[in-house]
Amino acid sequence: MTADLIIHNIGNLITPIVSNTPIRGQGMAQITSLNDAFIAIKDGVIIAVGTKDYATYQSEHTRYHDATGLLVTPGLIDSHTHVVHAGSREHEFEQKMRGVPYLDILKQGGGIHSTVKLTKEASEETLYNQALKSLNRMIMYGVTTVEGKSGYGLDADTELKQLRVQKTLNQNHPIDIVSTFMGAHAIPKQYVSNHQIYLDQVVSMMDQIKQEKLATFVDIFCEKGVFSASESYFVLSEAKKRGFDIKIHTDEIASIGGVEVARRLGASSADHLMAITLNDMKLLSQGRTIATVLPSTSFYLNAEYAPARKMIKNNLALAVASDYNPGSSPSENFLFTLNLAAIHLKLSPNEILNAATINAAFSLNKGKSHGVIAPGYVADIVIYDANNWPYVLYHFAINHVKDVIKNGEFIVKNSEIVKGETR
Ligand code: NIG
Ligand code: FE
Repeated sequence: MTADLIIHNIGNLITPIVSNTPIRGQGMAQITSLNDAFIAIKDGVIIAVGTKDYATYQSEHTRYHDATGLLVTPGLIDSHTHVVHAGSREHEFEQKMRGVPYLDILKQGGGIHSTVKLTKEASEETLYNQALKSLNRMIMYGVTTVEGKSGYGLDADTELKQLRVQKTLNQNHPIDIVSTFMGAHAIPKQYVSNHQIYLDQVVSMMDQIKQEKLATFVDIFCEKGVFSASESYFVLSEAKKRGFDIKIHTDEIASIGGVEVARRLGASSADHLMAITLNDMKLLSQGRTIATVLPSTSFYLNAEYAPARKMIKNNLALAVASDYNPGSSPSENFLFTLNLAAIHLKLSPNEILNAATINAAFSLNKGKSHGVIAPGYVADIVIYDANNWPYVLYHFAINHVKDVIKNGEFIVKNSEIVKGETR
């Protein structure tokens, strides 16, 4: 088979090892690293990777891209964001800086509720254009697949509006967007004293969402003062009955049983986990649930970081994601999230690579097609203006991404978007 694109003379190509299951514990320290490498691509799929001669993949139609001296990784996968929302929350920044806790701002009707108000008022076009800007920032930082959640509507119309906008963006923008319905993100004020009324509404929203194919996953915010473990179990088991895969925001501030819910229901991921207990780590050491850690949120909230080293010691499979949202992680800079994973989570460069590619892909049920540079995988590739991965993690808060290839085509070239939204 001949290639339509060959990336050659690659200074250093790094990739997770091919695996049919997420990479856990000590295994996260293993990657493949090739010097002076090539990648051959045909019809958006990788057909060969190696260091030797690529003559057998050449034809007169083959195009070439020279990556002399440069670092190459799989496309990065940001597996937890709230990318579609209206407005921003700089008005709460001062309160936050004075030390008012995140949950107190939420209780006063601010926080998620202030974004809900703006998102309800916004037109689809406004939401679309704001998220489009964010997606363009993300691809510039090497992100080729992103997950995005609803949850700034808390009523059927607005939740569906968010998900429809996301679906259109997925169709029009080269990035892959995996959609999650998170109607149970906060409790609307009128239901504070009777959560069940709202949770029943959330369940009935699922039927419409399923019908319109608007989401793959359902998620809930299991947290002290938000939704309890038994409420989470209720919502997520109803989601499973309807054929959704599930995720859970849990142990961000307090450990109230969300991890056990994730384990019992076989969630694809449990996310945040800053307050995870040793016992819960043991639960997650078996089963399919990826432990998704979000260091940008800890950074921005001046909060604890997830005990990532202990999690690896206990054989968990970690993913790292940005949690991009207007309240607790207002930045699309995924490389900065990875800087924090090194500095604060104390993950090694190899562990970070696995966490931001293959494991993130598994948390989105894409682990057998995305996140690895090997024959048969989708050709999502990042080329950096750097010659090694530790350098990218060390030289922090800088965008080292030079070129991004999505499905075998350049979408970023020399740090500029060359193939964007096609509306
Ligand atoms: O993942 N924790 C709950 N939800 C988001 C924050 C949303 C917001 O503050 O707007 C999170 O951090
Ligand atoms: Fe989140």
